[in-house]
Order: sequence, then structure tokens, then C-alpha cells
Amino acid sequence: MEKLKIAGGYPLKGTVRISGAKNSAVALIPATILAESPVTIEGLPDISDVEILKGLLEEIGGKVTLTEDEMTVDPTTMISMPLPNGKVKMLRASYYLMGAMLGRFKKAVIGLPGGCHLGPRPIDQHIKGFEALGATVTNEQGAIYLRADELRGARIYLDVVSVGATINIMLAAVKAKGRTIIENAAKEPEIIDVATLLTNMGAKIKGAGTDVIRIDGVDCLHGCRHTIIPDRIEAGTYMIIAAAVGEGILIDNVIPQHLESLTAKLREMGVQVESGDDQIFISGSSALKTVDIKTLVYPGFPTDLQQPFTTLLTRAAGSSVVTDTIYGARFKHIDELRRMNANIKVEGRSAITNGPVQLQGAKVKASDLRAGAALVIAGLIAEGITEVTGLDHIDRGYSNLVEKLNGLGATVWREALTKEEVEHLKNI
Ligand code: EPU
Repeated sequence: MEKLKIAGGYPLKGTVRISGAKNSAVALIPATILAESPVTIEGLPDISDVEILKGLLEEIGGKVTLTEDEMTVDPTTMISMPLPNGKVKMLRASYYLMGAMLGRFKKAVIGLPGGCHLGPRPIDQHIKGFEALGATVTNEQGAIYLRADELRGARIYLDVVSVGATINIMLAAVKAKGRTIIENAAKEPEIIDVATLLTNMGAKIKGAGTDVIRIDGVDCLHGCRHTIIPDRIEAGTYMIIAAAVGEGILIDNVIPQHLESLTAKLREMGVQVESGDDQIFISGSSALKTVDIKTLVYPGFPTDLQQPFTTLLTRAAGSSVVTDTIYGARFKHIDELRRMNANIKVEGRSAITNGPVQLQGAKVKASDLRAGAALVIAGLIAEGITEVTGLDHIDRGYSNLVEKLNGLGATVWREALTKEEVEHLKNI
């Protein structure tokens, strides 16, 4: 086990290249199960979620090669192997194996997914969709059993706008008989990316990126080559770093339209943001104004940037209210930021920050992926050394974090935890 050490308080500048989108990757990889010949995905991020999914596809008999950022999956030898335990529990997105395996084999057994603890994260809308398509779904001892004699297209209205349910229903419906209509669908860019891959595989999907998606089932899907979209949350994290401690940072390989909500908020704070075709440049800013933020479904302010943004607000003069309408309990980073001298309190679904304060280096623990990002940013701002544990969370979603930060002039390194530190962490 390792910790991340950050010598904070220094300005950063230069160029950082954004990797492929984690939340696309974790759906694109399961989607390959549906093909009848090899699929290649280019531009994958170097993160542990990709490795875990590779292992899961191999468990069900797939032949997978992963070189640098490219994965080729030969799904022809896959079988409908039950996956009640093990790797499926290590990431939330293993729920996409339900839709993909149901679509291909008409049956699947998948252990209930793990992932970040952000409060309750039900999958009732996924199940509602599978049932509407004709599947019988039962929960037996923590594993979801899905079975259908045949999948038939259906009209499905999502009661909650859900990224996962929208993608999972698409995966199950592309090979169903007839037309499926998903109403009140989520509109995140990752949904369009998955629909693009499936369309290249021969699926018939219209409306991805709007709140009504129409899918006409086809009998078979074939292999193809697909390039993943850039990670808008990774890009947003570096934009926040640039606003917090940058003296001119160019963020390369981005789709600026995916980041308009963050760009607008940074500009309100007085940060200069210039967008190009696939780059964003952020010049340094000495005095930051406060802003309130409220997370919403896309194209609103993303919940995944709420935690990193809260760290930035510790530098702004005055009080800000950060409200998370998607995950009302996504505030586990606040106690850790307080240990670093932040003045923040949590009231219900909101965090109220008061600044500016000078953050101080401390020993802190990442409780989830984006909490980890929030603490890394805090470490870059803080005076002195910050030690962040819980790196397994950060490694799930940030490709080559240490290399990218040091490339901008930061002093960040990984160190093995001592025996005492491992024991201490087990006890808290
Ligand atoms: N919800 C339900 N029922 C469902 C599904 C969702 O009530 O069946 C609720 C959730 O509890 C939540 C809201 O609907 O309050 C939205 O959840 P959604 O299903 O959209 O989230 P998700 O698909 O599980 C993805 C990302 C998350 C990101 C959310 C919201 C992946 C693998 N994960 O999760 O990313 O926060 O969408 O945008 O795509 C992260 O990257 O750090 C992360 C947690």
C-alpha cells in the first residue's frame, strides 16, 4: 500500500494531456461482449477500473489484449459465466455486465456492484428497464440473477435520470426484438460515446444525447474500432488545479463544450478561461470571487467535480454554498479539508465554505475517487507536506496522476506505507 506525498504551495504551469474518459471506458469495455467479432477501443485511460474489467472479460472466456491505451476484445469465445463475487464487487460499473450479458446470452448473474460510497446508490431503474424488456430479475444473496427467453423492445420511462440505467438499457436493448424507447434518458457525453460504439458495431440507435433514445433491435453486432472521448472530469480537475495554483496551464485533448458549466463558474470567480477546438487555456488568478454551485444532471454542473471545486472555494473571498442534488451525502472530503485548515460546514445536502484561508499540509485520507482529487488539489495549494492515503480510490480514475502533476512542475511522489500506518488505517 502506498501514500501520495505532495509538497504544496508552488505555482504550476505547462501543458497536461487528458486521457480517455473513465466513465465511458467502463461501459465501452462491457459493450464489446455484444459483438460477434473483435472490437478495438483506442485511447483508454491507464486506470485500475480498466484492468479490473479486462480481468472480468477474461473470466467469462474473452480474449483480451491491452497495450498502452488500446484494448482489443475477442468476444467469440465468451460464455455466460456467473459472476456473483470477486472482481465485480470492486467497481460500480460492473453493473454494465448485466445489460451486456443479458443482451448477448439472455442471462447473467452479477454480484451487486461496489464503487465509491456516496450514500445510497440504488439500481432500481436498471432493473425496471430489464424487466420491461422481458427479463426476470431476482436478487439472491447479494447477486442479481437475470434471465429472459427473449428480449422484446419496450417503452421505458426512467423515474430518475440515470446515466447507468440509460446505458444498461441500451446494452440490453440493441439485440432485443423490435423498438425500445427510453424516455427521460440521461444526456451525458458518455452515453453518446457508448451509442457511437454500438452503432459502429451495427446497432440502430437514435437520439443518444437527448432525453428520448430510440433503439431498433438487430440480430447481430460485429467488431469495429472505436476511439474513446476525452475524460471531462479529469479535464475539469486540471482546470480547477489551474485556477487554484496555475500560472498558465494548457489542458490538451478536451471537448470544451463538455465543460461549459465549469467554465462558466470559473469565469464568475474571475478566472480567465480560453477555449479552443480541443484545448482549454487557464491563466493564473490571484483574487478569486465566491460562487455558489448546485450539481445537476448534464449539462448542469457535474457532481463529480463538486468535491474538487469545494477545495478551490477555500481560496475565494467570502462564503459559498455548494449543493449536491445528485448525491446528497457526497461530502466525506470535508472533514479531511478541515484538518488542512479549511473553514467549511455541512448542512444537509450543502457545504458552506468560508474563505480565503491558507490551507496547511496534513495527513488525510481519500474516502472515494473525487474526494481524493479534492485532497490532492488541497495538497497542491497547502503550505508544507500533505500525505494522502486511500490511493486505491484515486487510481481507479486518474490516469498517470503523479507524472501529469510533476510535468506541470509539482513535487508529488508515492511512498510505501509503513507497517504502523497500515495498522492505523485499518483501525479508522
Ligand atoms: N439512481 C436511482 N436509481 C437507479 C439509478 C440511479 O435512484 O436505478 C439515482 C442515484 O442514486 C443518483 C442519481 O440517480 O442519485 C444519478 O445516478 P446515476 O445512475 O446517473 O449514476 P451512476 O450511473 O451510478 C455515473 C458515474 C458517476 C457519476 C454519476 C452521476 C459511472 C461509472 N459513474 O454513476 O461517476 O457521479 O453517473 O453523473 O459512469 C465518478 O466518476 O466519480 C462517479 C461516481
